[in-house]
Amino acid sequence: MWKIEQPLENRNGVLHLGGVNLLKLAEKYGTPLFVTDEARIRQNYRTIRNAFARRWNKFKIFYAVKANNNISILNILRQEGAGADCSCVPELQLASLSKFKMEDILYTGNYNSNDELKEAAQMGVTANLDDISILDRFAKFGLPESICFRINPGFGKGGFEKLVFAGPDAKFGITEEVAKKAYAKAKKLGVKKFGIHMMAGSSVLDADYFGQVTERLFQIGKSIAESVGIEFDFVNIGGGFGVPYKPGDEDLDIERVAQEVTERFKGQFESSSNPPYLYAEPGRYLVCDSTVLLSRVHAVKFTGKKFVGIDAGMNILLRPALYGAYHQMYVVNKLDVQKREKVNVVGQVCENSDILAKDRDLPFIEEGDLIAILNAGAYGYSMSSNYNTRPRAGELLLNNGEEFLIREREDITDILDRQRIPGRLLK
Ligand code: LLP
Repeated sequence: MWKIEQPLENRNGVLHLGGVNLLKLAEKYGTPLFVTDEARIRQNYRTIRNAFARRWNKFKIFYAVKANNNISILNILRQEGAGADCSCVPELQLASLSKFKMEDILYTGNYNSNDELKEAAQMGVTANLDDISILDRFAKFGLPESICFRINPGFGKGGFEKLVFAGPDAKFGITEEVAKKAYAKAKKLGVKKFGIHMMAGSSVLDADYFGQVTERLFQIGKSIAESVGIEFDFVNIGGGFGVPYKPGDEDLDIERVAQEVTERFKGQFESSSNPPYLYAEPGRYLVCDSTVLLSRVHAVKFTGKKFVGIDAGMNILLRPALYGAYHQMYVVNKLDVQKREKVNVVGQVCENSDILAKDRDLPFIEEGDLIAILNAGAYGYSMSSNYNTRPRAGELLLNNGEEFLIREREDITDILDRQRIPGRLLK
């Protein structure tokens, strides 16, 4: 069993987040509800920034918007000094609306359309291109000042097999050979500044891996720089920093990650008069443990096993169904209940993969109990859907005991919003 740690607290048997009673929030705002502690996001940001910037001062964090695209969260991270890494035009628009400066925005798309490339070129953001063929199309919309390509370093690591983004079967990045041609072409076109990027996997708890994959990127980068005759202005090591999800997972040692990565930078560039910037693009690490998902138990069924039915199924939190991901849970109103049992926690969607926890040891659960699902801040809301015609959840932000509803729960109007019906079908 996990220890309940800040920003979570056990007060008289009831789970609190950021000092606020979660039972009361669920009563006031309804469920399912994502509840985020602002201080925790700021703390996570500073943990990474301090660890790296202390060792390599040309360091910048670009928050990966796909992890959680709520604009209040984008604004919190902008206030902290982060840039934004965007995967598509709507994310670029969100970053721009959240007042990130254009020079603080990266565009890391893949298999981009011409329309997307045109928008990005017009906005003037720095693009991480996923292929030489994309350079051809991108440059038609104006020659960018700087260009960066995403390298496939040949190996990666991920919390699940599906979260490994490098190696022969990865749809991302380009090999050293293709990259040499791509940079040579960009140079020939007249591009003056160059970056190099990788994003080799997500949800990694092994600190040593980050040094190893950076080393590989450096080998590739060196070979490109020498053969093409360019220097890199920035080296972007991507995201991937993991958080503990299940009992037995250890915290990722960020100091060690920073040490391992910056050692490679020092080895390569210490004597250089103009060493490159080190960029990182964390998503999960910044927001994941800031947020719990509150979900009500609506039905309890005994049929060989005990099934606990909650209102946050795979439509609200997809990760367990998609990856078999483990999310720690607490019964908010029963922290001190001694009687325990093993149950399957399931959602209300008509799919048998709609299971949040299998044979999970929890306090004795009854209808009306409230469940808190931990680590719901990254790839939670952002991967939710309207499947089974269910409205998406609300999002609430807590700051020093104050509550602010940062996204209202959807209802039927959101489901109908864009639908049109031909007149002949109304008869
Ligand atoms: N940069 C790029 C280009 C990315 O594609 C991603 C995530 C990140 C940065 C941030 O990665 P992070 O620091 O969060 O690991 N849906 C999965 C995670 C997929 C990550 C996709 N790319 C999950 O629920 O675990």
